[in-house]
This record gives sequence, C-alpha cells and structure tokens, in this order.
Amino acid sequence: MPPSIHRRQFLAATASASVLLGAAPRRPPGPGQPIVIASANGLRCVEEAMRQLQNGADPLDAAIAGVAIVEADPSDHTVGLGGIPNEDGVVELDAAVMHGPTHSGGAVAALRNILHPAAVARLVMQRTDHCLLVGDGAYRFAKMHGFPDTNLLTDEARQIWLYWKETQSRNDDRIPPPPDQLPPFIKAFFGPNYIREHGTIHCSALDSHGDLGCTTTTSGLFFKIPGRVGDSPILGAGLWLDNQLGSAGSTGRGEANLLNLSSHTIIEALRQGKHPQDATLEACRRIVATNHLKRLQDPKGRPNFDVRFYCLTKDGRFAGSSLWAGAKMAVHDGHSARLVDCAPLFDEPPPPDA
Ligand code: GLY
Repeated sequence: MPPSIHRRQFLAATASASVLLGAAPRRPPGPGQPIVIASANGLRCVEEAMRQLQNGADPLDAAIAGVAIVEADPSDHTVGLGGIPNEDGVVELDAAVMHGPTHSGGAVAALRNILHPAAVARLVMQRTDHCLLVGDGAYRFAKMHGFPDTNLLTDEARQIWLYWKETQSRNDDRIPPPPDQLPPFIKAFFGPNYIREHGTIHCSALDSHGDLGCTTTTSGLFFKIPGRVGDSPILGAGLWLDNQLGSAGSTGRGEANLLNLSSHTIIEALRQGKHPQDATLEACRRIVATNHLKRLQDPKGRPNFDVRFYCLTKDGRFAGSSLWAGAKMAVHDGHSARLVDCAPLFDEPPPPDA
C-alpha cells in the first residue's frame, strides 16, 4: 500500500480518536426511551447518536459522536470539512456543547484547521475554568490535547469561494469563467435555493436516564468577514439546556439569535409550561418583534432571512419551528431515523437569498 494511503488512514484514525477525548464512561441503560433530534442535515447524526445512547453513552458524548459524522463529511458545506470559507478563503469553525447533569458548557469560535470543534468544546468545558476559547488560543488548546491538523478547505469549497470572489465586483480585475464552463456543483450551489445562512448542525440527545446533552457546530455564514462569530458557539443563543426541562438549538441567521438569545428563550418558555412547539414558535415571534432594521425586512416588514429552532423535552417530546415554510428536522425515537416538518411562522417559502 502506498505511504500516502497509510498516512490518510493514520490521520482518519487520529481524527476519530480525537472525537472520544473527554468522553464519559458508559453506564447501564435506565428505564426511559432515548430520543435524539437534529437539524435536517442530521439524519446520519441521529442514527449514530442513538446507537451511542443505546450502548450506554452519556447524552452529550452521543450528540458529539453524531455531529462528528457531519463535521467529517466534505459534501456538507455548512459544517467542518468542506465548510464554505470566510472571505479570505479560510475555513473558521464555531461549536458549543452543553451537558445537562452538570449544567456545564464549553465552546470554541473561529477555530482553524481542526476537524472536530464540538469535541474540542467538550474539552474546554472539562479541562478549563472557561466557557469559550477563540481563534489561535482555541487552536493551540486543541493541539495541546492531541487534535491533529486537518486542511478543512476542500477543492470544491475552494472553487465555490473563488467563483464568489470573482463575481463580487465589476470594478476589479478578476474574471469568472463563462457560464457554460462552470462546474455543475457551482451552478447548483448558487442556484435558486441559495441561502447564505443555510446549514449548521444542532443535535440534542435525551438518554434512558432522562439526562440531556446538546451541541451545535458550524462553519458559519458563507464568505463571512474573518473573525465573524455566529450564534452556534454562544451558550443561550445557538443552544441551551436545563436538565430538568429540555434542550434547544438553532440554525440559520446567527445574528438574529444572538440578539434574542433564542435557545434560552425556548427553555424559559418550557419553564412557563409551554409545549415545545409553542416554545420554538415563541422564539420565532421574538425575532420578528425585534427585527426593526429595514435592510433585514421584506416589503411586508417581515424578516428577509430564516432561522430554525429545535427542542427536545426531558419527557421526550420534541418540535421544530422556522420563520419560513419548508424546514424539516431529523428525529430518532429508538426505532428509526426520519425527517419531520418544522412548523413555520409564515406559511410561505423563505425569500430568495434569505
Ligand atoms: N447559525 C450559524 C451562524 O450564523 O453562523
């Protein structure tokens, strides 16, 4: 076998070993039914997380193992490897985790060259007295704990970024390829369903003991300003849980969730006795109510962007909501993984380039 294959296998093994760093010991099953939910790009995530729960994994460890599959999937351009880079062509990842039984959390932001940011976030939670490490500090922390370097910019993501750069202005010297020479994946990427804030993965897991864990991990807004951090690594915005009530997370326009601490809002709505469906719709309504800037409104004054929320309660109920129609979420109830509809606040598809 050529040495390059050995090297690739070695790197893959090291990367997957790094997902396990900090995982808790397994415990015998409890009396309850485990449930896992995730955003719509998380069908394989919920399958893996459920497999982990059924083997006695801690709910946070199960969620991290689930999203690790998507972090390592080069075809998902919104998370980890293959994520769309910032405007300089560099992939910067954000992720956070929360652990129900200890009510603790950790996060990393603007992390470069590390494949599994959610697993690094778990170590921030466990091996520091902090909740958030960013940029070079987060990278050096990950290296210190044995995470290998990974080039996160795939050739496909690089070509998408280059085309974006070449089409930004008529007043510069870059010339995009003629339309008939564009690779199909670039046409597909910038097609009619193109949404800049699309993607990110959130996963919440409930184990058979009634304990919760969750994570949100992303490469963030496509072509973002270098250093831009969204909601995903911010506890209360991109995810939140209370082990007595439930777990919630979001995908979509991070700035809207940062300005409303939407995931925290959802759990507080559960505390008031709301059903998870009403709790997630409440977070959508808050965004509409606080979205005062004209540049972020459609002609009817509604948000010209989308956000999506996911919620799993301690007693195993779950629901998702979105501002606009068409969103789905992934669910595994112990029998099968499937996609279910999120309830929209507005019964129309998202505005173009939302
Ligand atoms: N919700 C992901 C982001 O805005 O980065």
